[in-house]
Amino acid sequence: MRTIAITGSASGIGAATAKRLEGEGQRVIGVDLRDAEIVADLSTPDGRRAAIDGILELSGGKLDGLVPCAGLMGLPDRPASLLVSVNYFGSIELFEGLREALAASGEAAAVGLCSNSTTTSPGLSMDIVEACVAGDEDAACTAAERAGSIQTYAPTKLALGHWIRSRATTEDWIGRGITLNAVAPGKTQTPMVAEGKAHPVMGPLLDAFPIPAGRDGRPEEIANLICYLLGPEARFFVGSVIFCDGGTDALLRPQDWPAPMPAPER
Ligand SMILES: NC(=O)c1ccc[n+]([C@@H]2O[C@H](COP(=O)([O-])OP(=O)(O)OC[C@H]3O[C@@H](n4cnc5c(N)ncnc54)[C@H](O)[C@@H]3O)[C@@H](O)[C@H]2O)c1
Repeated sequence: MRTIAITGSASGIGAATAKRLEGEGQRVIGVDLRDAEIVADLSTPDGRRAAIDGILELSGGKLDGLVPCAGLMGLPDRPASLLVSVNYFGSIELFEGLREALAASGEAAAVGLCSNSTTTSPGLSMDIVEACVAGDEDAACTAAERAGSIQTYAPTKLALGHWIRSRATTEDWIGRGITLNAVAPGKTQTPMVAEGKAHPVMGPLLDAFPIPAGRDGRPEEIANLICYLLGPEARFFVGSVIFCDGGTDALLRPQDWPAPMPAPER
């Protein structure tokens, strides 16, 4: 039986992933603000430390999979700094704090939750991305408060995607037998999106998002992809950011990806 830790396990994509893994007979250690094996607030350094310590204790220091799934959408009445602290630092500190436990498995997999907002949000604030990637939570929160909550979501997810791609190929990760990848969902029917749709400002923005598939994603569809990346058939995926979005990214930017490597400067 494999042991997999999932944050944000009480709702949406995290809950669907936990349900599927448990249905396969795997052991899930869930972390959330409520209804979880470990109740911890990932928006604070102390809460992240408590989550890491709790996972290490329950897993006995050996973990086969990790999915830091907890996240928040930007809403006008939600502090932008909360998105920086949960979406970005709440993911990367768990990746870092649990890396040794993953290495102890020999064949572990870690999957982060990116988003198709990373490539479909015009004029995304690179100040937030750069401060996140530099590991400066205070500067990232300050930049986020300047940009506003709605504009902070995509930068936190872009920074996470960049962090994952830059770490995945290193000795610390694949060199220790840990595959590290990300999924980038499009709009998916979860309580997070339901909350956004009910909001007078965010609702129309979400409804305007074009989806060629003609519908929102289902949490189980994203969970299926996460479970595949956690499993034995996905051992050749390293540093991939896999979009699962009903075609939105391909519709808006058909020729931007794959992007060719620029010629070297002479
Ligand atoms: N639903 C979508 O359309 C969509 C699209 C792209 C990416 N994502 C990402 O997928 C992930 C899951 O989203 P979802 O739609 O299932 O959301 P959700 O709101 O249904 O679930 C998120 C969970 O995270 C938990 N959480 C929030 N703040 C926390 C904190 N401070 N500490 C601990 N737990 C906390 C919540 O309690 C909740 O259970 C998020 O990272 C989200 O950004 C979602």
